[in-house]
Amino acid sequence: MTQLSINTARLISEINTLATFSDAPAPAVTRILYSGQDQAARVWLRQQILDAGLTIREDGLGNLFARWEGSEPGLPAVGTGSHIDAIPHSGKYDGVVGVLGGLEAIRALKEAGIKTKRSLELVMFTAEEPTRFGIGCLGSRAMAGTLKPADLLAMSDPEGNKLDELRQAAGFKKTLSGVQLAQDYYSSFIELHIEQGPRLERDNLQIGIVTSIAAPATLRVILHGDGGHAGATLMPGRKDALVAASEIVQEVERAAHESGSPDSVATVGLLQVHPGAVNSIPSKVTMEIDIRDTRLASRDGMVDRVIEKIEEVCGRRQIGHDVTILNRDNPCQSGEEIIQTAERVTQRLGYSYKKLVSRAYHDTLFMAQICPTAMIFVPSENGYSHRPEEFTADEEIAQGVEVLALTMAECANL
Ligand code: GLV
Ligand code: MN
Ligand code: MN
Repeated sequence: MTQLSINTARLISEINTLATFSDAPAPAVTRILYSGQDQAARVWLRQQILDAGLTIREDGLGNLFARWEGSEPGLPAVGTGSHIDAIPHSGKYDGVVGVLGGLEAIRALKEAGIKTKRSLELVMFTAEEPTRFGIGCLGSRAMAGTLKPADLLAMSDPEGNKLDELRQAAGFKKTLSGVQLAQDYYSSFIELHIEQGPRLERDNLQIGIVTSIAAPATLRVILHGDGGHAGATLMPGRKDALVAASEIVQEVERAAHESGSPDSVATVGLLQVHPGAVNSIPSKVTMEIDIRDTRLASRDGMVDRVIEKIEEVCGRRQIGHDVTILNRDNPCQSGEEIIQTAERVTQRLGYSYKKLVSRAYHDTLFMAQICPTAMIFVPSENGYSHRPEEFTADEEIAQGVEVLALTMAECANL
């Protein structure tokens, strides 16, 4: 088998440099879509890609495509990539390993003199994280056609800034109708990512080959109570929106514990209290609820149970409520042929591995709507992710890049 030389030192130095584009002090990373740091990181990333000799195209949302042409450039390409946006106070590997690792994979193939039949394309997806617009996988959803231009035009961030104005101010002025990709754009898509969970480390394995991605749903709930003076308003007749929210938070946890599925997870990760003063009764609460399971029926059962509880609590406490389902996505299955290719490559390289489900979502969930996909995972120390302590060893990242590169090369000669 072809020997590849992954330049681990170059890749790790790039990961460390990208981590410096952050709105939080190191080791934490915060990089929000279209922020100054996101823009600066993109300028830096474009230069690394150009230095590698790839050609760049960007769409109207800022999804970036970097292509290395194959010998038959008219054929659908093989894609790879991930995201560089980072949720508040997270780490430096989530998404970044798939973007810079994908770049290193293409560079390693180039440097080894391997020319594939199909072109290889690296994608840096705009905003996999839901931080700014409340919905994850913004760029890949639009690329798959799950979000249409009209949906994008209707979106604003919590400060009321319109997505359409922000993206143009960030320099992405092409039409939104040009974002959706054709169904035959890619012949396959393979994303490298950190596991973000403990299974590979626990089993002392080097590589994970993802067979499916769990189904995520997100609810935004706004509770309208009645505010007032915390000292002067007696308890009878109060309509405290936060106390109502607390009952709902408890139910979210119960729904996951009692779903009957070991894969159920449910989290209230965002709770905003208005007006947010110690001596003022909370009059309004905004909460966002994240609910997932590998089985659609279990995920939907939890969503329904939480909505029923919101109605019951709000009826009993006379609290107004708006419930918006921000997303309720299906799970996806990886392509059998890509799984088998990745497995063969991993075995040939002599790396230990297992096949596993991704409990986190990824842009691959949406790329799966337009082509066969798979993902390669590398271990996460202590299973940590979405926190500054996120860590994957240099050599483990390099091993993932090697598996990615050779899997892409095989897929690109089919
Ligand atoms: C992605 O970051 C997720 O929340 O799964
Ligand atoms: Mn993430
Ligand atoms: Mn990610």
